Amino acid sequence: MGTFGEYGDPRLVAVYDTVNPFAAGTAFYIRLAAVLSASSIIDIGCGTGLLTCELARRGYRMTGVDPSGAMLDVARHRPGGERVRWIEGDASQLDEADADLAIMTGHVAQAIADDQSWHATLVATRAALRPGGRVAFESRNPGPRPWAAWTPQASRRRIDDAAHGPIEVWCQLVEVHDERVRFECHYRFASAGEELVSADELRFRTQPELTQSLTDAGFAVEHVFGDWDREPVAAGSRELIFVAVRG
Ligand SMILES: C[S@@+](CC[C@H](N)C(=O)[O-])C[C@H]1O[C@@H](n2cnc3c(N)ncnc32)[C@H](O)[C@@H]1O
Repeated sequence: MGTFGEYGDPRLVAVYDTVNPFAAGTAFYIRLAAVLSASSIIDIGCGTGLLTCELARRGYRMTGVDPSGAMLDVARHRPGGERVRWIEGDASQLDEADADLAIMTGHVAQAIADDQSWHATLVATRAALRPGGRVAFESRNPGPRPWAAWTPQASRRRIDDAAHGPIEVWCQLVEVHDERVRFECHYRFASAGEELVSADELRFRTQPELTQSLTDAGFAVEHVFGDWDREPVAAGSRELIFVAVRG
């Protein structure tokens, strides 16, 4: 059994798309790009580029930024990848100033755990947008304490990867402390008889904290939705989905 950061080990990167396929959030961001009549979009924390390349194929001018070289390697070789400008790094590496929309999908906002890095990300994002440009991202709502279900019993599932065969996947909560949730994801590859473990930490910010962070970075919050159907936030909402405009 080996323990890794999820976005560093090539075997876990290779199965990332099978574990995290297109989902309801994907349709939300595709629709948002259309509603805003965006031309140029920056995908911050683009990972393996599933959505980045889908948007590129739909004709948007795309930039994908991610600090994980292993994730970007998958992204570059995906159909449509040749149309995307890829940057290995974080938002501080962005060199444009006129994008229409910046997105952070797949709960990237929670992976940026400390407040200084989150503020720096939002400030750099703002600098890369044209006046009136939007930033959109989601963060899991801490209200319903979603980590309570991150147990082997509640989270165990089996997926079938085209290249690696059946994989059993489950989560194990490690610690909840100061809005930070540490947990492990276990991947048991049946054909190789091997189990890999990724150790992760996510930050759970509240709606007022995220709103304040956007204001501090020079954005005005336009919408906060509680789910991908654009419902308002309620106590039990799973997501906090923000759309904010560059002031
Ligand atoms: C859960 S993945 C989401 C990937 C993709 N956006 C998706 O929806 O599938 C989180 C990604 O955030 C990236 N990431 C971590 N820290 C980051 C930072 N400071 N700036 C930008 N991306 C970061 C990771 O490398 C990883 O690819």
